[in-house]
Amino acid sequence: MVPGMSSSFDGSATKEAGTRSADGPIDLRSDTVTKPTAGMRAAIADAQVGDDLYGEDPTVQALQEQVAALLGKEAALFVPSGTMANQLALRLHTRPGDDVLASEGAHIKWYEAGAAAALAGLQLVTVGRAEQSGLFDAAELRAVYQPRRSDHASPPMTLLCLENTHNRGGGRVWPQAQLAAVCAEARRLGLRLHLDGARLWNAAVFLQTSPRDLAAPFDTVSVCLSKGLGAPAGSLLCGGRAEIDQARRYRRMYGGSMRQAGVLAAAGVYALTRHYERLHIDHDNARLMANHLRGLPGVNVVSPIETNIVLFDLMDGAPDADFVVRALAQRGVLGSAFGPRRVRLVTHLDVSRDACLTAAQQVCAILEKTFPSHEPRGARS
Ligand SMILES: Cc1ncc(COP(=O)(O)O)c(C=O)c1O
Repeated sequence: MVPGMSSSFDGSATKEAGTRSADGPIDLRSDTVTKPTAGMRAAIADAQVGDDLYGEDPTVQALQEQVAALLGKEAALFVPSGTMANQLALRLHTRPGDDVLASEGAHIKWYEAGAAAALAGLQLVTVGRAEQSGLFDAAELRAVYQPRRSDHASPPMTLLCLENTHNRGGGRVWPQAQLAAVCAEARRLGLRLHLDGARLWNAAVFLQTSPRDLAAPFDTVSVCLSKGLGAPAGSLLCGGRAEIDQARRYRRMYGGSMRQAGVLAAAGVYALTRHYERLHIDHDNARLMANHLRGLPGVNVVSPIETNIVLFDLMDGAPDADFVVRALAQRGVLGSAFGPRRVRLVTHLDVSRDACLTAAQQVCAILEKTFPSHEPRGARS
């Protein structure tokens, strides 16, 4: 269970999860591909519901209170997706024409369909370099910051968005001291702070700290239930009471108000209670795969592996990412091309340790075919 949560964790969900990869392909495209466990489906079936637009869904209310408390914020708002949670935050903290600072590779820039510009009228300015895995320091923030000008020629920079863990950075976790220094500098510059915490749970488990600690420097934090925690849908935007009340209005504008959403919220409550404590297994499985791939001819594993995402680059002479992903699919393993020469594999509760080992062995088999002079490796763990 999440540090700060009162429900009990009996370990049964750990046994239930991570054992269901035998039937289909080993699907490592994302941690969003998980299917609800039997226990989660039972929780969904038993959910107390009401019309949430009228504020009458007790399960949504309970989830919102629980997550707000876990993150140390006054209030939380349940929304269908992490994208919506992030976009509500952008809308809350800015005005059309503002500049928003975000790390190189940020989800809000790469994967939210241009919503920052289309829905909130924002320009995104990136901080840091791709090879820094989404991390940067206070000096780099200072270097891109543009102070307001008396002639109003430059767009006002109003918000800094960080991502923890950083998806395109290979699940990197912000070192706490570095995060604190960057946030302190942002405050000094007068910026508001939003955290895309789609995988904040994984960061907290890696650092052996509470999500609350990691959320503390930020005005708003988005968290997802549908990534490593394995719920079918649902995210929350957390922050101050007045801000979250305003976000409720924007949620309605963006079409995200739901009615008997307690069926989804029940899956979220279940996931927080049962699946948080097993996230370290996903991290161990990711490390296991990475260890297997390290040193493989033509492969450079993007290090360090801290959470549940493995990125590896295919060097000159090796086949490209599309080829490797296609060849893996033929061998029953699904991964993602994350660039012309980069492959991403993500562990989650529907893939066991054995499945991860098999997946790594299949990558080895494909690459060893391309470099036949190297000795086959056999099964290593
Ligand atoms: C870092 C990050 N933020 C936000 C999201 C968006 O979540 P959703 O797909 O629920 O919109 C994702 C999705 O993978 C993500 O990785």
